[in-house]
Amino acid sequence: MELAITAEEYQQLCALIYAESGIALGERKASLVVGRLSKRLRDLGLATFTEYCEKVTQDRTREEFTRMLDLISTNKTDFFREPAHFEFLQKHILPECARAKCIRIWSSACSTGEEPYTIAMALYDSVQSPAEWDFKILASDLSTRVLAKAASGTYDEERVRTLPPNVIKRHFLKGRAASVGLVKVKPHLTDMVQFRRVNLMDERFPITTPLDAVFCRNVMIYFDHATQETLVNKFHSYIKPGGYLFIGHSESLQWAKHPFKLIAPTIYRKEP
Ligand SMILES: C[S@@+](CC[C@H](N)C(=O)[O-])C[C@H]1O[C@@H](n2cnc3c(N)ncnc32)[C@H](O)[C@@H]1O
Repeated sequence: MELAITAEEYQQLCALIYAESGIALGERKASLVVGRLSKRLRDLGLATFTEYCEKVTQDRTREEFTRMLDLISTNKTDFFREPAHFEFLQKHILPECARAKCIRIWSSACSTGEEPYTIAMALYDSVQSPAEWDFKILASDLSTRVLAKAASGTYDEERVRTLPPNVIKRHFLKGRAASVGLVKVKPHLTDMVQFRRVNLMDERFPITTPLDAVFCRNVMIYFDHATQETLVNKFHSYIKPGGYLFIGHSESLQWAKHPFKLIAPTIYRKEP
């Protein structure tokens, strides 16, 4: 059974979530929040959301905060989601990097890993000798729960059902015995991807080498315009001149002031 939340409690919870993650829940998400957090309150033996807010704010380890954000955030993703971006990567970005044979990409809200592994597959399958290339993909998310799943590289077979059989064969190991029904990403792809927790609200990101492209897809939709604008301008300083920013197909930066040039729907370029 779900617990009740008062308007004040909901406001307090929204303020906490916004301050930490930039996620602006809005007035109509109260039942979603209650639905996602009720079980956690019961597990902790708490009767009200006031008690839960106290627990979250008083926990010095911040573990409960992370847990709450894990429960609140939406992690929907897919392999080859919004495929035009991967075609663009293959047709435009790879050739631009061909002389140096080096490419740096950041999947900045990677959820359970389908996006960075898709980037890895798109790169690996587009060059003649992948071993001669220096491919590095940083894959990050706010949620430690999704990052653990991503780093395991293990998925239900159902998740890759729509991929062509030759792609599955080339890039995934099929589970046997106790792992029947599962697939595991092969090491030639996992070696290309490094996972770590990064909060897009952080002032600075743990990136020292200028990036060829940033994927920030289907997360800005949860942020308000001011937060989107700050974030996009932050990305700009981590991208190489001539590098790219990809956003989700239902997202738009038309509200934001930023120095990128829109070169195709949802694809932005930093001045070369
Ligand atoms: C809907 S998923 C998008 C996954 C993938 N980019 C895609 O388009 O398929 C949104 C992800 O954003 C993450 N997220 C939400 N707020 C974040 C923040 N402040 N910093 C980093 N990641 C965040 C969530 O944990 C979630 O995994």
